[in-house]
Amino acid sequence: MDAKDIEADLIRVHCTEEQIQTRLGELAVEVWDHYEGKDLLLVGVLKGAVMVMADLMRHLPGSAPMDWMAVSSYGSGTKSSGVVRILKDLDADITGKHVLIVEDIIDSGLTLSWIRANLSSRNPASVEILTLLRKPDAAKVEIDTRWVGFDIPNEFVVGYGLDYDEGYRNLRDVATLAPHVYS
Ligand code: IMP
Ligand code: MG
Repeated sequence: MDAKDIEADLIRVHCTEEQIQTRLGELAVEVWDHYEGKDLLLVGVLKGAVMVMADLMRHLPGSAPMDWMAVSSYGSGTKSSGVVRILKDLDADITGKHVLIVEDIIDSGLTLSWIRANLSSRNPASVEILTLLRKPDAAKVEIDTRWVGFDIPNEFVVGYGLDYDEGYRNLRDVATLAPHVYS
């Protein structure tokens, strides 16, 4: 669906479908150059990263495998606690592989910093992070993120894989959700 289909639920669009595709195209070229000749594995975090993974991969000018993890943050409410439980682990061993974690958004950074530490402990050749979105004003921990699509304000956004209560993931753009939807 498009932002105009659900206009009343949104406040403003941060990145349109076109802007996202253009940016992912640029990032894909940088990623491909960086890993030239190396054993690259793309690791996505379910479910938010499905769109980023699908489009980033298709922008790559060559073949690379993907794998997926699903995690849940312990703790109540909408705030990430940083204590993470693995719901679905990777299918394959990552020893000696160059792992690129593909994420939808870095908010507090707590979840991703746990995932990075967890993957780093499995003896990969390297672990880097690519995220489509980052909220610099929400950061609670510093994360070395090699590739960032867009920095956005500290607002609750939906679309392009990002959900509110499992809805809105199929919005083509990224937009701020109107508070009346969740209050
Ligand atoms: P963090 O641990 O605070 O960095 O956030 C972890 C997860 O919270 C992200 O991977 C998203 O799934 C979710 N999240 C954070 N901010 C938003 C948002 O603005 N909209 C939807 N989901 C979000
Ligand atoms: Mg996520």
